[in-house]
Amino acid sequence: MRKKIVAGNWKCNTTVQEGVELAKAVNELVAKADAKNVVVVLGTPFTHITSVVSAVDASLINVAAQNCAAEAKGAFTGEVSAAMVKSTGATHVILGHSERREYYGETSEILNKKVALALANGLTPIYCCGEALSIREANEQNAYVKTQLEETIFNLSVEDFSKLSIAYEPIWAIGTGVTASTAQAQEMLAYIRGLIADKFGKAVAEETSILYGGSCNAKNAPELFSQPDIDGGLIGGASLKAEDFLGIITAY
Ligand code: PGA
Repeated sequence: MRKKIVAGNWKCNTTVQEGVELAKAVNELVAKADAKNVVVVLGTPFTHITSVVSAVDASLINVAAQNCAAEAKGAFTGEVSAAMVKSTGATHVILGHSERREYYGETSEILNKKVALALANGLTPIYCCGEALSIREANEQNAYVKTQLEETIFNLSVEDFSKLSIAYEPIWAIGTGVTASTAQAQEMLAYIRGLIADKFGKAVAEETSILYGGSCNAKNAPELFSQPDIDGGLIGGASLKAEDFLGIITAY
């Protein structure tokens, strides 16, 4: 059975000290809750990872980076490589978030390299895709997301593809308080699963965890997570408060 995953994306929020406190609070709540069937991931800033990894119980909480370099190592000032991320104790890396694509010019070509390096270093990519409002309004979201997948992760071997998770995040729903309707989210995730089946076979498609992201919170999570193709969420704003985040983790 494919994994249920609830991943927090803290983005550029919290100091190291605040992040450690938040991680400890999440750890404490998860330890008390009955959430054994959910893989919990905290996507922290690079600076926090080592401290957060030390502060949590690895059997309850996984830690992710929100990015990694497109090069293995060398003269790339300010970059953090996949090997460096792995050496912190992080297990996952969020790649291709729309904010990285939009504000930092991450193209499919760059993401190809990042995904390959993450996998080569034993990190699990949480690969993000999703369309802008204008594309949704033109009803071109399926073709758009298909191209994103084809250009970045559909060229992987079946073996490598089987290691990653996908997060569908419509840009118009991120941080806006406007969640995609349950039907819109389910429809897109079923579509993505169909594309995976066409490309890698039905068995691989059935095992791939596909998450929804975009203004997901403790209130709307139960309905979203009740859908057959929604295997969890990538959570921004609501992952910054331990109780809110727990409400999503226990929404199954
Ligand atoms: P949000 O962000 O939950 O604040 O909408 C989701 C994301 O960008 O991953």
